Amino acid sequence: MSNTNQKKVLFSITKKNDQMHDSHEVENSLLVTKQGQLQNAFNRWADENRNPLSSCSMRIVTDSFDYLHDDQVLPIQPEQLFFMDYTSKEDLANANVLDIGLGSGALSIFCLLNGAASCIGLDINPRAKLFAGYNAMINNIDKDFLMIDGDPFDIFRSVANKKFEFICSNPPFEPTPPDVNYYINSAAGIYGLDFVDKILANVDRHLVDDGVLQMVTMAPGNATKPFKLYEIIENLNSG
Ligand SMILES: C[S@@+](CC[C@H](N)C(=O)[O-])C[C@H]1O[C@@H](n2cnc3c(N)ncnc32)[C@H](O)[C@@H]1O
Repeated sequence: MSNTNQKKVLFSITKKNDQMHDSHEVENSLLVTKQGQLQNAFNRWADENRNPLSSCSMRIVTDSFDYLHDDQVLPIQPEQLFFMDYTSKEDLANANVLDIGLGSGALSIFCLLNGAASCIGLDINPRAKLFAGYNAMINNIDKDFLMIDGDPFDIFRSVANKKFEFICSNPPFEPTPPDVNYYINSAAGIYGLDFVDKILANVDRHLVDDGVLQMVTMAPGNATKPFKLYEIIENLNSG
């Protein structure tokens, strides 16, 4: 496995209970420079806080921001926090979840900690499964959490005959010209919408009746709306 022995970041994500609605923030993050230092950092942090991190909702290890290889496992960004703030517990209750683009497992683990019954995470980056597996362990996940290889061309191929109550994704969404090498976690075609388009075109076949798709993404637009995303949805609705 290439590029595993590199700097990592341990994020502590905390839910703020004093808000009217859910609000999560990255309360702390620790840079871990060498393989093997992770557990020490984890313990040291717990000691310093005189609190075994029990007050935080989740701990997530990712690559560090300056890990500049195309197989970077995405660090925690505002989009994962948006997802946590805007995902309803009712939608997750006893749901079998599909997470398209597992990465560090942040979304999957959030779902499993908040009422989901099970989760399948798909990714084409083999390093994602290593991180998500580790993160499942440090978050004491004891539910079915299956991490399987995705398919670069046919996103749903690995779950061809399966349906889910809840499908989530923080998809690759950065505009990326053809023939440009970019992070697997972000490259998404000229408008940054290739991946979103494929999810929207096929998701109905994998949702049960009343199932929910919860996606957090960015899309080009103007002051009024992300019109390119609207175009995709209107085309699919008319098709
Ligand atoms: C923006 S990242 C989000 C990762 C994680 N869900 C998070 O929120 O931190 C998108 C993820 O999609 C993965 N990905 C890219 N193409 C894929 C495909 N065809 N099937 C499954 N996952 C894919 C990338 O490797 C990356 O981990």
